[in-house]
Amino acid sequence: MARVFVTRRLPGDALERLRAGGHEIDVWPEPTPPPRDALRERTARADALLCMLTDPVDAELLEGAPRLRAIANYAVGSDNIDLAAARDRGIPVGVTPGVLTDATADIAFALLLAIARRLPEGEAAVRAGDWLTWGPDWLLGRDVHSATLGIVGRGRIGTAVARRAEGFGMNVLHHSRSSGVPLDELLARADFVSLHLPLTPETRHLIDAAALERMRPTAYLVNTARGGVVDQDALAASLHDGTIAGAALDVTDPEPLPPDHPLLDAPNLIVLPHLGSATHATRRAMADLAVDNVLAALDGKPMPHPAS
Ligand code: DGY
Repeated sequence: MARVFVTRRLPGDALERLRAGGHEIDVWPEPTPPPRDALRERTARADALLCMLTDPVDAELLEGAPRLRAIANYAVGSDNIDLAAARDRGIPVGVTPGVLTDATADIAFALLLAIARRLPEGEAAVRAGDWLTWGPDWLLGRDVHSATLGIVGRGRIGTAVARRAEGFGMNVLHHSRSSGVPLDELLARADFVSLHLPLTPETRHLIDAAALERMRPTAYLVNTARGGVVDQDALAASLHDGTIAGAALDVTDPEPLPPDHPLLDAPNLIVLPHLGSATHATRRAMADLAVDNVLAALDGKPMPHPAS
């Protein structure tokens, strides 16, 4: 029997499969992540760790967990895990690819539409009693149809966003390591720039002050990838001085973003609390894949969904 530390309660009944496999499950009971000491103590006693993107899994944590044989991240991203440290200790790391592609692409498109057509401002105006009449020049936004969408990163989610954009009659450009147009060209041509790439040392602050300068003053930035891909201070400055028209973010750095964070003073900005994969079906499917990864590793088999 193995002991599996699960760092948050999960939707659905995927954990029952671990119990049915004869494993003991230690589920962190709080709605917030285990503090560092608790993460360390409980991981130290575990054979497998099923963790969230909010749990930093670093060399020090692994050092104190001699029994650990599996790390299953409840996310497609793995930037919270020191993959090299896990590899050095021979611990396989799994992720949850594929099942959250469409939900995340839907959120990217929801953000794109919301910022372009000023949906939060309109909704707030109704509630504040500012809806005085239909007005020929009130709350005008930008057309989405016929606009050019620049997709940075052309993996599963970027491709799913491109499919949606084609349905909306947009012109789609993309930039990736192996295909598409150069990033500078994409930034200069796009009416909307949508980010779909992992956070790595190479992509940290890929969208910095210089990149924002290359965008059109009428263009919008959408980020559903990771907050660290964007230099947020530069983004705030570019919104204040009109370098770009607006930004819509599902991810920030840090998360959660404190309500008094200076970024939130910037105009033409929508921020969501990392909801990309937040649908009932998606979160259940992510739990299934994470459990598949744990079960395989505890059985001495390769994880079906390894981190790359
Ligand atoms: C992931 O799985 O990496 C997503 O960001 C979670 O929504």
